[in-house]
Amino acid sequence: MLGIGSDHGGYALKQAIKKHLEARGIEYKDYGTYSEASCDYPDYGRAVALAVASGECGRGILICGTGIGISIAANKVPGIRAAVCGDCFSAEATRAHNDANILALGARVVGEGLALKIVDTFLDTPFSNDERHIRRIQKIEG
Ligand code: RB5
Repeated sequence: MLGIGSDHGGYALKQAIKKHLEARGIEYKDYGTYSEASCDYPDYGRAVALAVASGECGRGILICGTGIGISIAANKVPGIRAAVCGDCFSAEATRAHNDANILALGARVVGEGLALKIVDTFLDTPFSNDERHIRRIQKIEG
């Protein structure tokens, strides 16, 4: 199960990503927000982060205007490695090297076409399982 969430700034892109996930047959749970009414990104960043950290969701996707605020909020939850990506190279690298478990996107930064390619790259790239990357991730966890 994939967890997905956004604030009002990411709502429209979240709807497009959900349609894309449905076309790919990927199950997701939407943690809100459910309209374009102004709201607070930490609420949604935390909700998806808690779902991923608890194992309710395997991975997550978060969207706000920049992807930054919502990723900062998500990264406060122990065990979460949320990465803001604006390109496919970063999305591939953060899966392979950081085993990122949440992708954060900036709806005011990337267009829908690029965002969907970043989503696919994030979902389709496995962690490398390389010893040096495992060691570095363990150091992040403390
Ligand atoms: C909301 O206006 C905006 O601040 C938010 O979507 C995000 O960009 C925060 O980092």
